[in-house]
Amino acid sequence: MYNETLINQIRERFCHVDTCPYQGSRVYFENAGGSLTLKSVVEVNTRLAGIPDNQGRDNPASHELVRIIDQSREDMRTFLGVSEGPVFIGESGTELLFRLVCAAVLGTPAGGNVVGSTLEHPATVSASKRWCKIAGKQYRAVVHDNDSATVTAQDYRAVVDGDTRVATIIHTSPVTGISVDVKAVVKVIREVSPECVIIVDGIQHAPHGDLHVDDYDIDAYAISAYKVFSRHNYGFAWVSPRLSTLPHDHLDATPDDFWELGTRDTSEFACFSEVVNYLDWLGSQFTDSESRRQRILAAGRSIHDQEVGLVDIMINGADGQKGLCDMPEVTVIGGHDNSQREGLVSLYIEAIPCADVVRQLNQQGVRTHVRKNDYFSGNILEPLNRPSCVRVSMCHYNTSTEVIQFLQALESIITLVANKNRSRGSGYRTRYRNTG
Ligand SMILES: Cc1ncc(COP(=O)(O)O)c(C=O)c1O
Repeated sequence: MYNETLINQIRERFCHVDTCPYQGSRVYFENAGGSLTLKSVVEVNTRLAGIPDNQGRDNPASHELVRIIDQSREDMRTFLGVSEGPVFIGESGTELLFRLVCAAVLGTPAGGNVVGSTLEHPATVSASKRWCKIAGKQYRAVVHDNDSATVTAQDYRAVVDGDTRVATIIHTSPVTGISVDVKAVVKVIREVSPECVIIVDGIQHAPHGDLHVDDYDIDAYAISAYKVFSRHNYGFAWVSPRLSTLPHDHLDATPDDFWELGTRDTSEFACFSEVVNYLDWLGSQFTDSESRRQRILAAGRSIHDQEVGLVDIMINGADGQKGLCDMPEVTVIGGHDNSQREGLVSLYIEAIPCADVVRQLNQQGVRTHVRKNDYFSGNILEPLNRPSCVRVSMCHYNTSTEVIQFLQALESIITLVANKNRSRGSGYRTRYRNTG
C-alpha cells in the first residue's frame, strides 16, 4: 500500500477528500457513484468556462482550444492503450453506449442475435433490447453466477453462436464490484462468431486503472468522466476503425468516422487531460520510464495494489479491529475471497434494513450507498432474493484508517441492534426481516 508521504500527496490533489461541504467530516466510500474530483480538473474547468471563443477560427484563442482538444484525444488514447480508431466525447456513459449499440445493431447484417449478460448496467441492456426490436434481431442474456457475482468466458460460450452479430460485455459490475475477464470472453466470442461487433462498458473499471483496450480485440469501450476523477456531464468512447464508419448519427459534412454532434465544450477535453496528467504523476512515483503510457500503467498497478490492501483490511480486519469475515451477521456479495474484486464491497445484514445501515453509517461520518432491487440493481439482487444491499466503494485515495473507521461504525450498528433485539425479544429481527 502507499506510504504515508505518498498517500498524503495523493489526497492533497483531490477536492473534499475527507470533508463534505454539506455534512462536515466524513469518509468517502461512495466512489462507484462518483469518484472524488481532482482539484486540477476544477481549476482548468473554471478557467476555460470564461473563454468565449469557439473552435475552428483563425485567432489565437481558437487555436489554443483546438490544441487542447487534440492533446486530450491523444491523452485519452494513451489512457486506454489504443493505436487506431477515433475517440469521441458524448453527454454521459449511457448516451455513448446507446449510440454505439444502435450503430452496431443496425449496421451489422440482417437477422441473427445480440448477446449481453445479466451482470450489465441498464445502459447496454436497454439499448440492446430497443435496437434489437427495431432491427429484428434476437436479444440473449448470459446469466451471471450468483456466488462469484460475475460472468465467465464459458458462460458466454453457452449462449453465443455463429449468428451473434453484436456482443456487449461489462468490464466491472457497479453493484458487486467484481470484474469480468474481458480478454477471455472476447476470445470465446471470436472463436464462435469472428465478425461479431463487441462493445465494452468500461465505466466502472476505468477508475481502477490497468486498461489495455488494444489487447482486448474489441470494437468499442465507453468511459464516464465523473467516475474517473473528472466532472459530471460527459464521457468518452473509443471505436474501432470498422465500427467507427458504420452508419451513425453525424453531420454529412464531417468525416465518416466522426461521432461528435455539434460543438463540444473544450473544458471536457481539458479536464480529462488533467486526469491523465495526474495518473502520469502517480506512475512517475514508481517508474523512471520515459513513456507516458508506461507511467500510466505503473499508476494503474499501484492503484490496484492499494485497493487490494484496502479490501483485505475490510474483509480480514487489522490493528485489532475485526473485519467483515469475522462479523457473522454480515453477508458479502461475491464472497470474502474474490480475486476479481475491484475496490468495492456490497454487503447486507439480515436483521437490519440496508437503508438503516447506510443512514447510521452516515450519522457516524461514513458515506456509503444503498442499492435497491430496482431497474439499476435488480439484475444482481433479484436472483439473490434480496430487497437491497449496502454498497461500500473505495478508491486508491482511501486509507486503512478510513476502512477501520467504517468497520468500527458497522460493528457498533450491529451491536446496537443486537442489544435492542435482546431487550425486545426477537421482535426487531422479525419486524425488519426482508423489508429492505
Ligand atoms: C457500469 C456502468 N455503466 C453505465 C453507467 C452509466 O453511466 P452515466 O451515469 O455516465 O450515464 C454506470 C453508472 O453508474 C455504470 O456504473
